[in-house]
Amino acid sequence: MSADGLQLRRLFNVCTVQYISVLMEKNPPNIKVLISADQRLQRLKEAFHVKYEEFPLFYACAPGRVNLIGEHIDYCGYAVLPMAIEQNILAAVSVNNSQTIHLANTDPRYKDFTTSINEVTIDRENPQWYYYFLCGVKGIQEQLSLSPLTGLRCVVDGSIPASSGLSSSSALVCCAGLVTMEANQQSVSKVTLAETCARCERYIGTEGGGMDQSISFLAEEGTAKLIEFNPLRATDVKLPDGAVFVIANSCVEMNKAASSHFNIRVVECRIATKVLGKVRGLDWTGLQKLGELQTELGLSLEKMLGLVEEVLHPEPYSRDEVCKILGITAEYFSTSILSANTQHEVSHFKLYQRARHVYAEAARVLRFKAVCDSAPATAVPELGQLMNQSHASCRDLYECSCPELDQLVDICLQAGAVGSRLTGAGWGGCTVSMVPVERMDSFLRTVKEQYYKPDARRAALLKQSLFTTRPGGGATIFTEE
Ligand code: GLA
Repeated sequence: MSADGLQLRRLFNVCTVQYISVLMEKNPPNIKVLISADQRLQRLKEAFHVKYEEFPLFYACAPGRVNLIGEHIDYCGYAVLPMAIEQNILAAVSVNNSQTIHLANTDPRYKDFTTSINEVTIDRENPQWYYYFLCGVKGIQEQLSLSPLTGLRCVVDGSIPASSGLSSSSALVCCAGLVTMEANQQSVSKVTLAETCARCERYIGTEGGGMDQSISFLAEEGTAKLIEFNPLRATDVKLPDGAVFVIANSCVEMNKAASSHFNIRVVECRIATKVLGKVRGLDWTGLQKLGELQTELGLSLEKMLGLVEEVLHPEPYSRDEVCKILGITAEYFSTSILSANTQHEVSHFKLYQRARHVYAEAARVLRFKAVCDSAPATAVPELGQLMNQSHASCRDLYECSCPELDQLVDICLQAGAVGSRLTGAGWGGCTVSMVPVERMDSFLRTVKEQYYKPDARRAALLKQSLFTTRPGGGATIFTEE
């Protein structure tokens, strides 16, 4: 270790990290917890110094999330129930007048990138890590009409496993949004940051609904949140004592920007909205979300489920059939209803299955919140049951599971979980299980034995793949005193 390195360590040790967020905070997060001990910050600071021969001016971090219930319904306008996890994206930053943005990552798999502040462009055909960062930069630049942007140097360090359904990409977008705001000496509310980052992540091509960015900014330690949209708001949900949430990674990677699965579901929900709206005599052209349709019709979720049964058929709809029902041309269908990466991908749409999932899942979220609020003695098994129903619906109706996720859910239930389900977009990634405290040890042992140990690749990933989690704090900016 060089003399510089020693000095740096000593310097850092005598300093304490100080919270400088310019955002209004009820409960400032515990930064030591957010960055999971000083060593990580220390290593990042050293990496920054080695790379740029200067020290960071400030740090920003944004957490990943685990969604407890409410899958694939945020983009339909429905409330979801996630919590932030301890794992996050942490960035060290300095600013300058170089008119360039320099990005580096502590993970050698992710290459350095440099661009001019005047050319912040995102290549959605090629979803590299730094394009997620640039989404955040561009989003804040547009939101605040920043011109010119300040130049910056940044090293990013992530502790959220990539492509695991724990929202590493959105955390990166959110972290970049915060970095851009602070580097340009601006101040924006958390709600605006969340909405801006949700919007700008779409530059990479996925039509996500805003859950990930919202919880990354609005999370508070110790509480899960009900996230509602239009207008965006977050309400505390106190989880019952007596059970712990455990995340288990199926070790099947799913990058939603690199495939069209996700956007196909968004499009199927959009078509279902329009078909149901048309059949009910509404002006369907402006209707985009199943939630908007419910509002227009003024019906309960139960009645919406009845409408789905009455109007839609379980056989997939062909493009021709949809065009006929809506009275539109194939060209209008392609340009106005399909999204860029679904143009050529699908010929048939499962409207009945997708709409049934969405309305039933939206009801399960509300029920989950109600059970947490009233906290009956039966809360834990009731919540577990809702999680199991959610997984079954994701698997059978929404078809966003995969054999490994289903196997892992089965193992988790046999190992003592009261509820277990895929979390996040699915098609790989993680499960979340609710486990009574007294069964934790044997649960972890059994899942290790049955899912991870028999497979060398999974066994190698075990350490970062199976862990308990508590509701963590939201995104923040800090510096050293
Ligand atoms: C991804 C999206 C979210 C949400 C989930 C599925 O994480 O970014 O907006 O749609 O998938 O619930």
